Amino acid sequence: NNPPWPAYRGYHEYSFAHATMQSRLPTILGKAIEDATRTLNEQSSEERIVDLVACIDRMGELMTDLSGNAKLRPIIDDGEADVALWNKEIAKYFQGKDFMNAPWLFAEAYKYRRLHECFSVSKFFHDYDVFYRQKCDTFSRSSDAVFELSMRFADPFKIAEDLSAEGKLEAERLMFLELTQVCLWGNATDLSLLINMTEEQIKSLQSTGGDNLAATEKNILGNHLNGLWDTVKVLRDRTGGRVDFVLDNAGFELYCDCVYADFLLQSGLATQIRFHGKRYPWFVSDVTKKDWEWLLNTLVYGQLFPQASDVELESLRRLGTRWKQYEKEGKWVYEQHPFWCTGYTFWDLHSEAPDLFLHLSRSDLVFFKGDLNHRKLTYDCAAPASTPFDVAIGPMASSAGAPKIASLRTIKSDVVVGLGSDGDTTAEKLDAKEPGWKISGKYAVVLLSEGRPG
Ligand code: F6P
Ligand code: MG
Repeated sequence: NNPPWPAYRGYHEYSFAHATMQSRLPTILGKAIEDATRTLNEQSSEERIVDLVACIDRMGELMTDLSGNAKLRPIIDDGEADVALWNKEIAKYFQGKDFMNAPWLFAEAYKYRRLHECFSVSKFFHDYDVFYRQKCDTFSRSSDAVFELSMRFADPFKIAEDLSAEGKLEAERLMFLELTQVCLWGNATDLSLLINMTEEQIKSLQSTGGDNLAATEKNILGNHLNGLWDTVKVLRDRTGGRVDFVLDNAGFELYCDCVYADFLLQSGLATQIRFHGKRYPWFVSDVTKKDWEWLLNTLVYGQLFPQASDVELESLRRLGTRWKQYEKEGKWVYEQHPFWCTGYTFWDLHSEAPDLFLHLSRSDLVFFKGDLNHRKLTYDCAAPASTPFDVAIGPMASSAGAPKIASLRTIKSDVVVGLGSDGDTTAEKLDAKEPGWKISGKYAVVLLSEGRPG
């Protein structure tokens, strides 16, 4: 049950797979070792010090394996819920494969699983997140965009009473389109590509809609925004729908996701939102439960923005308080299925995690955020850019019970589909004119699959 196109692999020098496996991943791991060393130097108890030194030694071994292109060994049984899934996949498909000749998607995910293993077998540091400092720090340096949104959306969303029914629907449509773009471009702040961002870089990545909207929409190369609105606007008629977000990055992107989810609830388009995060640190900036809690609590109680005015801080507190209330009332639910931290693509979701597939099939619409989720949906293979999205995602569109799926993704890697019938020409032109277009994050896709009733 595979697509007819080859998956990208680390030895494909023409692809971003090569640069990632060869230099990005060792750099990320090096930074992670620096972080753990910093924590080590803050410890006082001998037991904890010895325990953390062992974690750092294991990271050193992983670095040797990665840079020496070692064969992929099974994952140690550290009691995690995903060990069996990992070792089954390794045994079935990747016996004897190494970091460079295994499919890129798998090898990259495997590296994050091995990194987790360095800590999961330890006594005191099994939950340690080597990326946590970086995630919190980048959000604290995002104040401009954070307040721009909070000042606009702290007040509950309301449509002017004096508008006709048509006028109201139009106002709601425009707000939906704007916030979908906010949610989309929130994906540009992924820390795995931008290590040590300056304030200026952060700002330029954080588009918050407004005047910029028409210009940024031009960069959405595969654009199903209108179809998405048609899907969402009818949810209310079924006394509100359930919408799921398969989350990507913590901090600013998660904040944008929450602003969007808040709008969907307030406007009555959805009545319940389910957020799916990761069980442990993943691809640098992905959301874990701790990141989720940190965001909501920091908005209410934190002191991240010493320069902000009282009105600005109040707007954040109001957002955070409302969001925490949604959680208490069960309108927002945070979940973390083990499947999300495996090396499987979503072509295997229905067979390897049937419970999760069934769960998602009960949703009215599932948003998949970001580049990695998009690679997983599309098998991370060399499909032509004209391939229709529902063909590219295979069983996630064609299996009985497949939910409606929307992928909101800024393009950061090789696989690009859903650009329409002349998509191959569009891609060729960009290849000639702007060689780095597939990894810059400047372009995006908003793609919709209608799913298949069960
Ligand atoms: O494709 C480049 C890349 O950095 C991958 O290594 C990773 O899949 C992805 O981008 C991370 O981006 P996102 O956070 O949007 O999934
Ligand atoms: Mg990510």
